[in-house]
Amino acid sequence: MDISSCDISKWGFAEFVQNAVREGVLCDIPVASSPSSATICLHQKEFVNFAGINFLGLQQDADVLAHFTREAYTYGLVTGGSRLTQGICQAHRQLEEELCRLTGKERAITFASGLLANIGFIHAMSSNFYLNRHCQIDNSDTVFVLDRDCHWSLWKAVERFPYGKQVFSFQHNNPHHLKEILATLAEKKVVVVFESLYSADGTVAPIGDLLDICEQYQALSYVDDANGFLIYGAQHRPFATEFAQLSRATFIMMSFSKSVGLEGGAIVGPADPIHAFELLSGTSIFTAAMQPPTASTASLIIQRLCEHPQLIDDYLAKVAQFRAQLIEIGCTINPVPSYITSIFVGSDEKAKYLRPLFREYGYIVPVFQYPAVKQNQAVLRIILNYHHTEAHIHGFLKTLANFKEKYEF
Ligand SMILES: Cc1ncc(COP(=O)(O)O)c(C=O)c1O
Repeated sequence: MDISSCDISKWGFAEFVQNAVREGVLCDIPVASSPSSATICLHQKEFVNFAGINFLGLQQDADVLAHFTREAYTYGLVTGGSRLTQGICQAHRQLEEELCRLTGKERAITFASGLLANIGFIHAMSSNFYLNRHCQIDNSDTVFVLDRDCHWSLWKAVERFPYGKQVFSFQHNNPHHLKEILATLAEKKVVVVFESLYSADGTVAPIGDLLDICEQYQALSYVDDANGFLIYGAQHRPFATEFAQLSRATFIMMSFSKSVGLEGGAIVGPADPIHAFELLSGTSIFTAAMQPPTASTASLIIQRLCEHPQLIDDYLAKVAQFRAQLIEIGCTINPVPSYITSIFVGSDEKAKYLRPLFREYGYIVPVFQYPAVKQNQAVLRIILNYHHTEAHIHGFLKTLANFKEKYEF
């Protein structure tokens, strides 16, 4: 036995991996030899894919790919450094201006991912920076109040603050509970953080009610719109009332890995704080910027989605029909009819077997079980892809109905 393997054994990874694989929470990472779309080729076999989060599929259009290639020749593949040191490309600036136009906010900053936007925001809003006595800022007393079900990145970012003193959580989507908490925090510098649409349970926040309370108690607000971005807001779409209020938030965060189908994230808000985030977020200055062709292609896809809203309407109609079909075969699904569909399985034990079983039948299906959800509240979390055919959906429903009967969920 060599010394390094002896040392690392103290950490217990070998036993953990063995147990996590047995419990079905860790697997060999699938390796794709095709783009991730309605179908995906893994280890040379084609599957119908329900695990992709890039659900509108525009990133696969031939002219979008051609645009990406052209922009790669124009700007190169990378900025070659972080924003403040190396700078950004016109592509980033255009994307940021586009986001301001869309949201009505003064300024935007892009990040290499939505996760980095979230972590950078919390860091920037609570930073204590001292260059000299003329150039300093101290917000280390900021208090954060998060919806309990906020994304991992937001919880991770507030981890270093004492809970109950500088970090509070309100019950999921519960404005009354938020109000109770804010009432105890008068005179403090408070930032309230919540999501527009939650990817685990598909629920939509009562955005207007939560922002009313923020305004009443003079708290700043940060809405993570990673999942809602570009999908909701139009008058004729579901949740129009909630999303019509989104622009009242002080800051809005968006991810480009969902509706846009690429990678990257951004925050929009008032000019001065967003400008300061270049320095204070840490996740802007200490890491590389978005890749320039990605930034340019994100602008193209955003413009296309704005010019062709029918595409999103067709997608949402497809989801509505899918939900109706699930109910028809006796599934219990999440009651809020967002495009995120959870099919209730319950037992963690059954969930453990379903993932490989679906795969055996040609379907990649995300199974959320404890600790992603509460114990024995396992769900199949489905995001339909715009390019799923009737045959894909029909085949899945038939397989699901069989499993449902056999495994009684
Ligand atoms: C609510 C929410 N915020 C942030 C993120 C992270 O976004 P990205 O994939 O751009 O890092 C996700 C992605 O899962 C998300 O669902």
